[in-house]
Amino acid sequence: QSVESGFFQWSAPSNIALVKYWGKKDNQIPANPSVSFTLNNCKTITKLAFAKKDNHASFSFDLLFEGQTKEDFKPKIQKFLERIEIYLPFLKDYHFTIDTENTFPHSSGIASSASGMAALAMNLMSLEKALNPEMTDDYFFQKASMLARLGSGSACRSVKGQVVVWGNQANIPTSSDLFGVEFPHAIHDNFKNYQDTILLVDKGEKQVSSTVGHDLMHDHPFAERRFAQAHENLDQLIAIFESGNLEEFIKIVESEALTLHAMMMTSMPYFILMKPNTLQIINAIWKFRNETKIPVCFTLDAGANVHVLYPENTTEKVLQFIKDELVGYCQNGQYICDKIGNGAVLI
Ligand code: PMV
Repeated sequence: QSVESGFFQWSAPSNIALVKYWGKKDNQIPANPSVSFTLNNCKTITKLAFAKKDNHASFSFDLLFEGQTKEDFKPKIQKFLERIEIYLPFLKDYHFTIDTENTFPHSSGIASSASGMAALAMNLMSLEKALNPEMTDDYFFQKASMLARLGSGSACRSVKGQVVVWGNQANIPTSSDLFGVEFPHAIHDNFKNYQDTILLVDKGEKQVSSTVGHDLMHDHPFAERRFAQAHENLDQLIAIFESGNLEEFIKIVESEALTLHAMMMTSMPYFILMKPNTLQIINAIWKFRNETKIPVCFTLDAGANVHVLYPENTTEKVLQFIKDELVGYCQNGQYICDKIGNGAVLI
């Protein structure tokens, strides 16, 4: 086949883990399974232009971020292309222009690696499909997720929606360490349009990257117990998604967030990514929940920002609470309203 030149454009969302991925083996194989909500509004939109070239000796690409050339992202992309070349042997036949932008504010402390790597993987799969038109949709999405995983582990959960599992779990027969899969069991209506308001507590560069954090799980005194716990928590979530029991949901989700940060605090070297305002927000959420019985809870990524999770029918009351009591803890009063979403889309 000959596909000379053209372009594709995909958007891929960010995702927020409920059971956290923290610790990995070689080749981005997770030490434990994780599950996430795919987001709807926080997305990366990437246009991939491609043109056949004569010299097939090396990768060739330009990178634009929000219309500007971005040299400092190039090594990460170069490494990604090297890693995935065995799965996409045509990569050196083309010159690529990767033109990418995020819908969320630049350096807001929201990691764009999940949405960014997923959007790039989707585009590269579109080119592969142009070269091999017979491929099925299932194969397309599965391989895209596998490629995204090699870019950034959690990116493999950004290809599909609305609830995605990544990592082998006995009672989820479709699950795999190699790619994310749509959660295959029933999900109660309580989780329909589940809301996630992201409070931007600290927009600075993280002191410890997640790569370093994952590595510190290798000699971690609590690693084995933690990995077993993730399996147990995912197991419980399967029943909770079916029953819609939000009280139980909250227990698992908040415990997972605090456990993630507990792993950071108990590794050697130890570190803390939460900020004083992260704890202020957590305490305010607990107080509000106690007083109102509204099933709102928090989760955390590898950073200081807080994701506030709540059912759709409580939106008005929770947003009022956020405006009255939590915005003061956000840097420049910034927060982003998001909700559960459907995964990557071809534009
Ligand atoms: O995908 P990475 O390597 O950036 O790791 C992300 C890990 C957490 O965000 C902390 C948890 C998760 O499962 O997304």
